[in-house]
Amino acid sequence: MKITILNGNPQESSFDAYLNEIQDQLEDKGSQVTHILLRELPLKYCTGCWGCWVKTPGKCQADNASQEMDEAVINADFVLWAAPMKMGYPSELLKMAMDKHLPLIHPYMEVDQFEAHHLKRYVRYPRLGLVVEKEASTDDHDLQITTQMFQRTALNFKSGLYFSLTSETPVSELVERIMEQSAKPLALPTTPQPTKGTAVTSVESITLFNGSPRGERGNSAIFLQKLAEGFGGESKMVNLVNINATPEHVQAFREAKAVWLAFPLYTDSMPGVVKHFIEALEPLVGQKGNPPIGFIVQSGFPEGLHSRFVERYLEKLADRLGSAYLGTIVKGNGEGVRIMPENMNKKLFDGLLSLGNGLAQGETLNASTLASIAKPESFPKVLAPVFKLFLKLPIAHSYFDGMLKKNGVYEKRFDRPFVKQE
Ligand SMILES: Cc1cc2nc3c(=O)[nH]c(=O)nc-3n(C[C@H](O)[C@H](O)[C@H](O)COP(=O)(O)O)c2cc1C
Repeated sequence: MKITILNGNPQESSFDAYLNEIQDQLEDKGSQVTHILLRELPLKYCTGCWGCWVKTPGKCQADNASQEMDEAVINADFVLWAAPMKMGYPSELLKMAMDKHLPLIHPYMEVDQFEAHHLKRYVRYPRLGLVVEKEASTDDHDLQITTQMFQRTALNFKSGLYFSLTSETPVSELVERIMEQSAKPLALPTTPQPTKGTAVTSVESITLFNGSPRGERGNSAIFLQKLAEGFGGESKMVNLVNINATPEHVQAFREAKAVWLAFPLYTDSMPGVVKHFIEALEPLVGQKGNPPIGFIVQSGFPEGLHSRFVERYLEKLADRLGSAYLGTIVKGNGEGVRIMPENMNKKLFDGLLSLGNGLAQGETLNASTLASIAKPESFPKVLAPVFKLFLKLPIAHSYFDGMLKKNGVYEKRFDRPFVKQE
């Protein structure tokens, strides 16, 4: 068996020794193990440029290190995602690496589990497992939230999550789980219900944290601007993509009267740059006076349901910071927002303006406005055949086809640059 370990431990620790022991035992059983120390790989953050889909289909041209990693991932029988928990979720290092798995799937969509997902690029995908090292504050809820988010990523990665364990598990047991080729993946979780935020009164100003790896050019900034416009009071925007300015970002958080953090869903979770910021907030845990915080999560897939899993994480994050949780605004089909004419976004913008206005009045986010923005939460199962038919029409992938053609690589759209398996 070929096994790839993606070790997202940012600093050498006993967790490395644990993973080395797993490697040794797997090799003793005849497996071929590629153990990638992500901290030694000069990976770059995903910038959301779509180049890996529409310029060099199947690989990120900007990043040789991620090509090396993706090749080891797609040609493995089993991939072990491994990382210490940091602020309730596996490390930023693992998250930035997972963002760079995007080239391994195809931009076109299909219906799976009655939901929108992407097509396979490769014939076969590795089985997946997760092992985390707990941090002092890790509780069962953190582990459940993390497991469910990784299950969703595994589904989008055309595979399944076969276990989610902590490093308290004996090495021999974990090795057995990896070797157990006839095992079934963990049963997919049901989608959590939308969370409920609280109200805060007399908010003088809001600080907007834009978590889009595209910075100001992305969709997330538009969402934040509309919310701020509705709020009407003082506001300022901080672009988290400038990670060299993280100390200033943390300072802006400390000084904020209320915070709104918006980001695109990246592999069913937050982008690596957002996780970087969240980890930088760790010194504020346990301090009094952290600002109230609300979130906007917008995704490429049309249904709101895809973002409900990370929403649970965000609710818990507010709790971890001792911040009042203002709620989460969820929107599918977010990718279209920046390219649509203003009138096509009218319903969304009106909703954001009205939610922003409510904040200025000290109201909680209006539940029916939230539901209307998130619509469709899911597609009714009976519509799945219609949706399937639609996805077969050229118009369904005209966005990516247009870019592929413009770049002269349309004929290469199904390329499998790392294929060793067929
Ligand atoms: C690396 C990467 C991973 C993504 N993962 C998801 C995902 O898991 N689910 C989804 O619906 N959209 C996903 N998207 C699509 C983005 O959420 C969507 O394009 C979003 O509108 C981008 O927002 P921005 O312009 O603010 O960055 C992903 C995009 C990228 C580049």
